[in-house]
Amino acid sequence: MAKQRVLSGMRPSGKLHLGNLMGALENWKKLQDDYDCFFFAADWHALTTEYSNPGNIQENIQDMMIDWLSVGLSPEKCVLFVQSRIKEHAELHLLLSMVTPLPWLERVPSYKEQQQELADRDLSTYGFLGYPLLQTADIIIYKALKVPVGVDQVPHVELTREIARRFNYFYSPVFPVPEPILTEFPKLLGIDGRKMSKTYDNAIFIADPPSEIRKKVSQMFTDPNRVKRSDPGNPDICNVFAFHRIFSSPETVESVNVDCRCAAIGCVEDKKNLAENIVTYLSPIHEKRRYYLTSPRLVEEILKDGCQRAQRVAMATMEEVRTVMKVG
Ligand code: TRP
Repeated sequence: MAKQRVLSGMRPSGKLHLGNLMGALENWKKLQDDYDCFFFAADWHALTTEYSNPGNIQENIQDMMIDWLSVGLSPEKCVLFVQSRIKEHAELHLLLSMVTPLPWLERVPSYKEQQQELADRDLSTYGFLGYPLLQTADIIIYKALKVPVGVDQVPHVELTREIARRFNYFYSPVFPVPEPILTEFPKLLGIDGRKMSKTYDNAIFIADPPSEIRKKVSQMFTDPNRVKRSDPGNPDICNVFAFHRIFSSPETVESVNVDCRCAAIGCVEDKKNLAENIVTYLSPIHEKRRYYLTSPRLVEEILKDGCQRAQRVAMATMEEVRTVMKVG
């Protein structure tokens, strides 16, 4: 039986952090054995908010791809590509805009939320309003059935479903109606206890060398009520403990859980322990990173091949779309 198609994208923000790793990449990696996976760098989406200062998008794509490959996304198992190289996405976005009522876009929650959150930029643009419609085109041009995303993206997949149905109703049943696959992973917090984010300067990056990881972990906030070494701590509200749950063995999690509560272990020692476990976790990833870093041509070959495979599918869909919409 043919495998179901999975598709997801990520904005090329450059080097990825442990939040991206645990929240998305580990999940994608699991899917690549059982599904026909398409993963891409959403560089046009990056422009919807960064248009006035795009920075170095090409370099960011390269950095992100090296992280994807090092983490274990395999070019043999999935199609890895770059959105802006497949111009068919733009054509489908345009054609879908004909059938998209404006209120459907205006009521997508991220539209108003992001405008408020990123108040320093002018996001009253056409491109920003159309962001979820471009995402719709990304998804349905490959006739994907499953879209692995975080909860914040679910309304975009909802819109995708509505647009796919509307298109099928007007013209002909071209598009399957896709579903989100929710990443169940709890959001990783940064070393200061806020959401892990590059812009907050609180992230631990996949590419951070062991010395940097040890330094950052040593700076992590812990249970604020545990002031002195002799104070008992509460792991339930400690970010370091949340990291243990991910990067340490069940035995370590259990012993820290007990020893912290009775002050048998101090935060300094505990963090040293965590840092080593993160270093161990990342060590095979770093090894692959070094390999891809010294072979930029290989990374480009992988992307070229992925783009060709993606484009073949996108072109076939566009043939169907043009036919049923009666355009050339
Ligand atoms: N909007 C997504 C994000 O910011 C990225 C994205 C673009 C995407 N196109 C997509 C995700 C299609 C899933 C499917 O994370």
